[in-house]
Amino acid sequence: MIGGTGTVGSQVLSQLGGADMHVRALVRNPGVARLPREVEVVRGDLTVPETLDPCLDGIDTVFLVWTAPPSAVAPALERILKHAQRIVFLSAPIKTPHPLFQQPNPLKALFEQIERMIESSGRQWTFLRPGMFAANALLWWAPQIRSGDVVRWPHLDAPTAPIDEWDIAAVAVRALCDDGHAGAEYVLTGPQSLSQFEQVSTIGRVIGHSLRIVEISPDEARRELLRIGPLPAVNMLLAAWAAAIGQPAHVTSTFAEITKTPPKTFLDWAIDHASQFRA
Ligand SMILES: NC(=O)c1ccc[n+]([C@@H]2O[C@H](COP(=O)([O-])OP(=O)(O)OC[C@H]3O[C@@H](n4cnc5c(N)ncnc54)[C@H](OP(=O)(O)O)[C@@H]3O)[C@@H](O)[C@H]2O)c1
Repeated sequence: MIGGTGTVGSQVLSQLGGADMHVRALVRNPGVARLPREVEVVRGDLTVPETLDPCLDGIDTVFLVWTAPPSAVAPALERILKHAQRIVFLSAPIKTPHPLFQQPNPLKALFEQIERMIESSGRQWTFLRPGMFAANALLWWAPQIRSGDVVRWPHLDAPTAPIDEWDIAAVAVRALCDDGHAGAEYVLTGPQSLSQFEQVSTIGRVIGHSLRIVEISPDEARRELLRIGPLPAVNMLLAAWAAAIGQPAHVTSTFAEITKTPPKTFLDWAIDHASQFRA
């Protein structure tokens, strides 16, 4: 497991709890990583290739989340693919022809490079292509909602279909543990197209706050949203939301087809995370 302390990886680890397999997590800081007790924790860093072999020794399957710099891709992937027979990679909907996913985006080239290396390795692979994570709301809106009743946000009419990170992890666990997922590219979304206004309103309803949701211009957002990421990331989001306005979000039934259970709604997600929006 690479990325086990993160949003999706931590859910994968907790859902793997019942599986009959030895699970090892590569983490940069074992001292602060809070992972399930049954998980073997090994120190490693994707940007320091020589740390990877000891983490990968004896493993046959890898779940990979990539947030490290692009320069680390080739040396790290070479080592990972030397050990892994099967790899499940958390990618993005880079091939889906919906405007939300087709704006200029530096991550696209990075993910294409990773996918090319995996595909040409001859290993069994599965690519997960989730759309917007519901968990983004924790970074985007929770600080504003915890500190008052005003949420300032751009492109409130832009619809997305936020997916619960638990559901992404459930598909990851199937691909890691079951046969029949080799060569699959799963575009995963939540079940509903909801505007950003509707998503913030849902959170307000769940926590019982009457929120004042104020549309700000893209230029204001460029100044105010640097707390959620560097300028290229903010620009990428602004372009994606602007392009998405006027048509429903892309919604797939892939989660239900794979897991035979209904996906969680954004309302479900907001109820599960309500405490994180309360002061
Ligand atoms: N947010 C969205 O809406 C969305 C949509 C589609 C796809 N995605 C993709 O999903 C991925 C992010 O998933 P996430 O939110 O679950 O990740 P996350 O919460 O940001 O966590 C990143 C994980 O990667 C680990 N990591 C970072 N740098 C590392 C390094 N140099 N060596 C080893 N481990 C390292 C982190 O470990 P530490 O504990 O050491 O920091 C952490 O476990 C990204 O690739 C993103 O592009 C996101």
